[in-house]
Amino acid sequence: MLAKPKKKSRFGSCGKKHIPSFYYSLLLSYLYLPFRNPNNYEKLYILILAPQCMEANFSVWDVSVAKYHQYSIKYPMYQKTGKFLVKKAKIKKGMMVLDLACGTGITTKEILKSIGREGEIIALDSSEKMINICKSGIKATNVHFIRGSAEKLNKLVHRKIDVVICNAAFWQLVGNSEVLKGISSVLKLEGILVFNIPLQYYKSSKSNRVILSVFKTISEVAKKYGYCLKKKRSKKLIFNYDKVKSLLVKNKFKILSVTIFKIKRTPEDLFEFFKISIMNPLPYVPQKDRVKILNKALMKVKNKFKMIPTYWIVFIAKKYTN
Ligand SMILES: C[S@@+](CC[C@H](N)C(=O)[O-])C[C@H]1O[C@@H](n2cnc3c(N)ncnc32)[C@H](O)[C@@H]1O
Repeated sequence: MLAKPKKKSRFGSCGKKHIPSFYYSLLLSYLYLPFRNPNNYEKLYILILAPQCMEANFSVWDVSVAKYHQYSIKYPMYQKTGKFLVKKAKIKKGMMVLDLACGTGITTKEILKSIGREGEIIALDSSEKMINICKSGIKATNVHFIRGSAEKLNKLVHRKIDVVICNAAFWQLVGNSEVLKGISSVLKLEGILVFNIPLQYYKSSKSNRVILSVFKTISEVAKKYGYCLKKKRSKKLIFNYDKVKSLLVKNKFKILSVTIFKIKRTPEDLFEFFKISIMNPLPYVPQKDRVKILNKALMKVKNKFKMIPTYWIVFIAKKYTN
C-alpha cells in the first residue's frame, strides 16, 4: 500500500518537521499581536518561521541584517573576535581558507590580509542578505562567495581547504551532524579548524558575573512592565569541553588548544547588540515596551558598570586522519 503523502508546508520544503513546544507556547500567546501592531510581524517571523526555515531558501538572519550590519560597523566585537581567530589559525600566504558563516565579511577581510595574492578564500553563508553585503564590501578577485547552508558543505565546496574559520556561528551550526562531517571532508589532512563559542553557550568553571547582573537588571525592569525575560536556551545550543571534544573526535579532529578571549564592551555596545532581532532578550515584547525596558535597564547598568566583559572560548583543532 502506498504511504499517505505528507502535507506540504506553507513555507516551502523545510528541513524541520515540527515546531518545538517552546515556540508553540510563544506562538499561542502572541498570535494576536500583529493585529495590534504591524511592527510585530518581524517578531512573528522570528518566533514562528525561524525553526521552519533553517533549511529553506531564506534565513532567519535575513531579518536581522540591517541592525546587525549597523552594530558591527559601530562596535568592534566581531572584528576583534575575527582578528583573534585569524591570528590563532596562523594563516600563511598562499593558503586556501574557508570562512564558514562569513556574515557581512568582517572576518573575510581579516583573512585577506594574511593570504596574500596567491591565497584564496571561500566565503560561505546561508543568508542572501548577509552575503550580498559581504560581496559588495570585498572586491578582491581571490575571494569566492557561496550562498548556501553549512549543512551542505561537501556539495558546495569542491576545493581542498587549509584552514576553516568560523567566527561567532559554530554553536548554531554543529547541532546538525552533517556540518562537522562536511568541514572534515573539505579540509586537507592536517588542516586546521578554528572557531569560537561565547561563554553564555559554554558551561565551564568560569562565569560572567557582570553579564548575569545585566540580565537580572533587564529582568527586574521587564517585570515592572509585566513581562518575563526570554526562556532558557535550548540544550542543543549549550556546549562544554567534553561535548565539543566528542563532536570533534567523531569527525577526525584533535584539539590543539582552547583559549579564553576577553573583550571589554561598553554598556551602550551591549544594549545596541540586544537591538539586533536575533539577539534580543525580550523577543516577544511589543517594540514600544521593549525599547522602554531596554533604555531603562541601560541607565541602571551604566550606573553600575563602566565596562562589560564578554568571553569567547576559542578552539583550534587539527584534522589528523582522512
Ligand atoms: C554572527 S554572524 C557571523 C559573523 C561572521 N562570521 C563575521 O565574522 O563577521 C552568524 C552568521 O551565521 C550564518 N549562518 C547561520 N546558520 C547558517 C548555516 N546553517 N549555514 C551557513 N551560514 C549560517 C548567518 O547567516 C550569519 O550570517
